[in-house]
Amino acid sequence: MSDLFEEKSRDWDQNERVLAISRAVGDAVLRHAGLRAEDRVLDFGAGTGLICGQIAPRVQRMVAVDISQSMLDQLARKPELQGCVETRCQDILDCPLEERFDLIVSAMAMHHVEDTDRLARSLFGHLLPGGRIALADLDAEDGYFHDTGPDTEGVYHHGFDREELAQRFAEAGFEDIRFETAHVVRKHKDYPIFLMLARRP
Ligand SMILES: C[S@@+](CC[C@H](N)C(=O)[O-])C[C@H]1O[C@@H](n2cnc3c(N)ncnc32)[C@H](O)[C@@H]1O
Repeated sequence: MSDLFEEKSRDWDQNERVLAISRAVGDAVLRHAGLRAEDRVLDFGAGTGLICGQIAPRVQRMVAVDISQSMLDQLARKPELQGCVETRCQDILDCPLEERFDLIVSAMAMHHVEDTDRLARSLFGHLLPGGRIALADLDAEDGYFHDTGPDTEGVYHHGFDREELAQRFAEAGFEDIRFETAHVVRKHKDYPIFLMLARRP
C-alpha cells in the first residue's frame, strides 16, 4: 500500500491550520467524551500524534493506529509520547486489533476511508460494551477544503452530512449519537468540523 502522507508527514506539525484543528478537536474530546483515568483509548488515523498527545497523559493506555508509517514515525520521535503511546501501522478494517477499548477518538481521518459503513462496524467491534466514540471530521463541504481541490488522492468524502452519518453509525449498533461543533476552519468560506459522540450498548 502506498503511503499517501509520506511527504506531508515531514512538516505536518508545522502547519498552522493542522495545529489549530487538532487543538480544537483535542479540547472538544476533553470536554465531551467523558475521559476517565482508567480508560484504554484508541486513536484511529492518529498521524503524528497531535490528538494522542493531549489524551495520553490523562488515561491508562493509548494506542495510535494509522496506515501511514511515515506519520507514525513522526509520532514515535516525540520524546513526550515515548512510553505512553503504542503505535500500530495497520488497516484495522482488514486486520482488526486483538484488543478492545473504552474510547475511540479520531480527527480528520474518516474522510480518507472509502467505506464508512465498514468503518463504523470496525470501530464498533473494537469497543468494549459501554465503550464510546468521539470522531471529528468535516461537515459536508464543497470539495475545496483540501487546497489541491476535489480530486485529492485518498480523499473519498467531501465531509459528511451529520444526519446521514448518524444513520450509518446507528445501523452499525451505536446508540446515543450526538454532535458538537469542535471548530470552524476559515478559508474562502467556513468549514465547520463536528465531533460525533456515541456509545456501544
Ligand atoms: C488528515 S490526517 C489526520 C492525522 C491526525 N489525526 C491529526 O489530526 O493530525 C489523516 C490520517 O488518517 C490516516 N488514515 C487514512 N486511512 C486510514 C485507515 N484506513 N486506517 C488508519 N488510518 C488511516 C492517514 O494515514 C493520516 O495519517
